[in-house]
Amino acid sequence: MEITPEIKDRINQIDEKFQAINQKTETHLEGLLWSKPITYWDYIQTDALLNLQIQRTTLPDEMVFIMYHQVNELLFKMILWEIQQVSHCDKLTTEFFAERLMRISRYFDMLTTSFDIMGDGMEVEQYLKFRNTLTPASGFQSAQYRMIEFASTDLINLIDHRFRATIDRNTPYEHAFNHLYWQAAGKDYQTGEKSYLLQEFERKYKKEFLSLMEEYNTINLWCKFKQLPEADQQNADLIAAMRHYDKTVNITWVMGHYNAAVKYIESVPGNHEATGGSDWKKYMLPKYQRRIFFPELWSKEELEKWGE
Ligand code: HEM
Repeated sequence: MEITPEIKDRINQIDEKFQAINQKTETHLEGLLWSKPITYWDYIQTDALLNLQIQRTTLPDEMVFIMYHQVNELLFKMILWEIQQVSHCDKLTTEFFAERLMRISRYFDMLTTSFDIMGDGMEVEQYLKFRNTLTPASGFQSAQYRMIEFASTDLINLIDHRFRATIDRNTPYEHAFNHLYWQAAGKDYQTGEKSYLLQEFERKYKKEFLSLMEEYNTINLWCKFKQLPEADQQNADLIAAMRHYDKTVNITWVMGHYNAAVKYIESVPGNHEATGGSDWKKYMLPKYQRRIFFPELWSKEELEKWGE
């Protein structure tokens, strides 16, 4: 290989990079000599990824259930990845915000339009058998789903409607946490006692959630939107994109999920308890839950008819 001035220049740049971190360029060049060429499977970690599907039963459709949940978690991670970039960007431009918002929306659109994999893609008889081995776990315990909520909107929009008047920006995070809308699904609605499902969820994630609530208090997607120039906040396309995201997460996905739950859980006469044990038929419906990320972008009538 001819050592052209361009190559010399590259070597100098590499040298500068390593000097800046007190490293010897010669050692790193020697390392290059012995490093293994990359392959697709090492880079994508296909072996690790394809070894994460462990059934608890012998029923083939349990595999569909596990894998589709894993697909959801991967997409949740992609969504959080984009939100983090918007939220932690100090010099945010409208262009960057809009472009990342579209990415986020596309990921959630995928989750919504593919929900038939759950709704129609498993035999009810098989589902009714393998679900018994999953009690008392539930998708309710998806931490990333909650993280997306914290990162998308002001905390007040995630508080159970019955307690909103008692909570403001000065309320301690711990108190707000205990009044999040989803606490209703994990508490015995007669005694107020927390279910095992909720206790375990909090034991694992509460600390992380409290820290995220604080982190996103001033940098969630809604705050970032409000920090854009006034004229851009009035931009019809941007408003439409914000409303689309809100509707997809809080109505379309929720209804696809609810309809799947009705189909499977109610396909047999008698007890219609969910694996997580919530009063799910009431809890899951958007018109009762009224979780809305960007209420200021909806009219009074639209808010009143939310989820109907
Ligand atoms: C046949 C498929 C499914 C059924 C029957 C089902 C059923 C349920 C039920 C009844 C609940 C209420 C809590 C409880 O008591 O368990 C719930 C909550 C939840 N599930 Fe599913 N689910 C299904 C698929 C999924 C999938 C694929 C995901 C994706 C990760 C998911 C994520 C969630 C989340 C995030 C919640 C909490 C929702 C909220 O708090 O508003 N579920 N599910």
